[in-house]
Amino acid sequence: MKRIFSGVQPSGTPTIGNYVGALKQFVDLQQDFETFYCVVNEHAITVAQDPEALKKNTRSLAALYLALGVDPNLSTIFIQSHVPAHAQAGWVVQCLTPLGELERMTQYKDKAKKQDSVLSGLLGYPALMVADIILYNTDLVPVGADQKQHMELTRNFVDRFNRRFSKDGQDILVKPEAYIPKAGGRVMSLQEPTKKMSKSDSNQKGFISLLDDPKAIEKKIKSAVTDSSGTISYDVENKPGVSNLLDIYSAFSNRTVDDLVEQYQDAGYGQFKADLAQVLIAFLEPMQEKYWALLTSSELDDVLEEGSKKANAVANETLQKIYQAIGF
Ligand code: TYM
Repeated sequence: MKRIFSGVQPSGTPTIGNYVGALKQFVDLQQDFETFYCVVNEHAITVAQDPEALKKNTRSLAALYLALGVDPNLSTIFIQSHVPAHAQAGWVVQCLTPLGELERMTQYKDKAKKQDSVLSGLLGYPALMVADIILYNTDLVPVGADQKQHMELTRNFVDRFNRRFSKDGQDILVKPEAYIPKAGGRVMSLQEPTKKMSKSDSNQKGFISLLDDPKAIEKKIKSAVTDSSGTISYDVENKPGVSNLLDIYSAFSNRTVDDLVEQYQDAGYGQFKADLAQVLIAFLEPMQEKYWALLTSSELDDVLEEGSKKANAVANETLQKIYQAIGF
C-alpha cells in the first residue's frame, strides 16, 4: 500500500481553506493509502508562540482531525514533538541543504517580511518539512498549492541524498509527490480575493474558521467581496470573489462549479450567498458537535498515544538508515 504523510500547524484554528486544500483530502485518501497525519507543533514555533495557546491549539487540531473524519482505525494521528526523529532528521536535512535553496523559498520571504525579528527556525522550516516526509517513506503528500515549492525542495533533496549516499544502486529515500486538489488548492480571502485565505489574517472577515458559529458564517459570507456585475459566472481573472465562492460552494457540496453556475446564473448574489452560508453551516455544525465532545474525552489522548507509538516505530527505522548512510 502506498504511503501518505501530511501535517497542519497548530497555529490557530484551521480555516475552510485548510480544509479544502488539505484536510478534506486527509479524509478522502485514507481508504486507499497507508496514512500518517501529524500535528506539526515544531513548525509552529518558527514564529513566536504563547506556550499555553500552543498547547491548547495542538490538542484542538488533533480533535479536529478526528471530528472531520480522519479515522484512527485507518490513519496514524500524532503530534510531531512526540516523535523525536523529526527534529533529529530535520537537523541532518538542514546540514545538507544549501543556504541559497532555503533563502529562495517564497513562503520564507513572505513570512519574514511580516516579522520584526526573524527566527532562524523560520529559514529552516522547509528542511524540517523534508524530514517529516522522508521519515515515512512517503509516496504522496496532500497539500494546498502554496506548498508546491516546499515539495520541489523535498524532491530535490531526495535526489541529492540518494545520489550521494546510496550504495549498490539501492535508493535510501523515497521520492514523494505533491497531491494538490485541482479546484480549491488555493482558497482565497473573502475580503481580498486575490490573496490566499489565511488563519493568521488580522482581518477576521477574510476567513471562516472551522469553529465559527452559524451567525459568524452568515455574516462573513454576506460581506464577502464580489463585484458590481451582479451575474454569477466562473472567471478567476475578472471575477475573483465570485469564482472563489463558487470553488468553496463546490468543495462543500460536492457539486461541480458548472452545475452551480447553471443553477445560480439568473439568481442574485444575495440568494447565492445565503445558500452557500447554509451549506457551510450544515457541514460545520455537526462536525463541531463531535469536536467539543472529543476535546473532553480520553479517546483523544488514547488515539495520540497509539499514534505516536506507530509513528516512532516507522520514523526511527528510516532515521537509522539516514544516520548509517551519513556516518553516524
Ligand atoms: P499550514 O498549517 O500552514 O497549512 C495546512 C495545509 O493547508 C493548506 N492551505 C490551503 N489550502 C488551500 N487554500 C488555502 N487558502 C490554504 N491555506 C493553507 C496548506 O497548503 C497545507 O497543506 N508546511 C505545511 C505544514 C507541514 C507539512 C509537513 C505538510 C509541515 N510538515 C509535511 C505536508 C507534509 C503548512 O503549510 O501548514
